[in-house]
Amino acid sequence: MYSNKYDGPKRGRSFDSVNTNFGEKQLHNELNKSAYGRQKEDNKESWANGSGERGRAAVVFSLKNDIGGLVKALKLFQEKHVNLMHIESRKSKRRNSEFEIYVDCDSNREQLGELMQLLRSHACNIVSMSGPASHCDVGPQDLDGVPWFPKKISDLDHSSNKVLMYGADLDADHPGFKDNVYRKRRKHFADIALNYKHGEPIPRIEYTEEEVRTWATVFRELTKLYPTHACREYLKNLPLLTKHCGYRDDNIPQLEDVSRFLKERSGFTIRPVAGYLSPRDFLAGLAFRVFHCTQYVRHSSDPLYTPEPDTCHELLGHVPLLAEPSFAQFSQEIGLASLGASDEAVQKLATCYFFTVEFGLCKQDGQLRAYGAGLLSSISELKHALSENAKVKGFDPKVTCKQECLITTFQDIYFVSESFEEAKEKMREFAKTIKRNFTVRYNPYTQSIEVLKDTRMIAEMVKELRAELDTVSDALHRLNKHYGV
Ligand SMILES: [Fe+2]
Repeated sequence: MYSNKYDGPKRGRSFDSVNTNFGEKQLHNELNKSAYGRQKEDNKESWANGSGERGRAAVVFSLKNDIGGLVKALKLFQEKHVNLMHIESRKSKRRNSEFEIYVDCDSNREQLGELMQLLRSHACNIVSMSGPASHCDVGPQDLDGVPWFPKKISDLDHSSNKVLMYGADLDADHPGFKDNVYRKRRKHFADIALNYKHGEPIPRIEYTEEEVRTWATVFRELTKLYPTHACREYLKNLPLLTKHCGYRDDNIPQLEDVSRFLKERSGFTIRPVAGYLSPRDFLAGLAFRVFHCTQYVRHSSDPLYTPEPDTCHELLGHVPLLAEPSFAQFSQEIGLASLGASDEAVQKLATCYFFTVEFGLCKQDGQLRAYGAGLLSSISELKHALSENAKVKGFDPKVTCKQECLITTFQDIYFVSESFEEAKEKMREFAKTIKRNFTVRYNPYTQSIEVLKDTRMIAEMVKELRAELDTVSDALHRLNKHYGV
């Protein structure tokens, strides 16, 4: 997920234009400076005493420009007993086919939380909220002005449905746009992803013969290149996926099997997703070692082209590397650095992600090899990136984060790392330069994010580290005794 590649340049569109962050911050500023934000402080007080207290909130959500769409959305407010005080609409700055609705409402936080989930399940994107959004765990802001981020793994249920593009609806330039059967099929996949909740098994798909044929073409062509183009970690894990998850040309592996396999190898799990997420929502998943994967197959008219990530890209590009513990940790570090970061910082991290996890190269035994999923799922770009025609530079997040990400042409430049360890160290140093008034840590036992913002929490962490160091010391002691050192 997150990047798409195809075989050969077809249309020019920059990465930025696809993965814009929807001006989240800008909308918040508008909310706060205009009449929209007038209740912000009052809300904090009136909602502070419990979920049953009523208070004012401002919500901005976007809708497809369909007849009756707004009426349906407003009925959801009525259904959840949320009183509408004021409503305005405007054309979306992000997508021409959408418009945005600003609603000033009166509600208790429990009702508002339920309403937000209901709106999302009806294909409305929650663009912004003011008021005590953190209290209902669905708004974009908490920690006093810090953009909202998931604190526990089940919070991803709130952010994983905010699909920016594609999903159930295809743009006019999509190869499947005029194919009604394909569009119906995509709606089926989108429904699965939108209804998915953390902890549930990922529904198994009975892929059609046509879908398997498309997968087979991609699989056969790419597997010819891997021995000479893929990095050694990829080549080590691909046979394991054949053995445990049915990676074969006549079978499209099931995400549920792949998720279970990854969990055992590196702690990563998979969530189905309907289409593109914002960089912020996508990177947040990585912080929990959760990878958002599409489940649909590209259109059969051109098996070697897709204008968006599809399951061939996820399964062949991403999964083999996600099974590698050092790569899994590298991916998680980018995700953790993104939590609560500014829009600008998230964009920089997303660019580093793009030139590593999607288009990264590494040096092994004196030769360049690919580890980026965008390369490992694209026949022509995989050949190009390792040819003499490609421009290659050492990975340096300070430089890499400024490089333009190209989505429908080959990259102008590729970045090479000596190892995942080296890339991780560089990313860790880079993350320290990102302005954030707190540090986050992932607790694998509770699958939650701990915000280290006071001395008590830091002391708790030190206690845990002491216990870990005791284990290390004990292990060393026993080794010494055993070898008589
Ligand atoms: Fe991707």
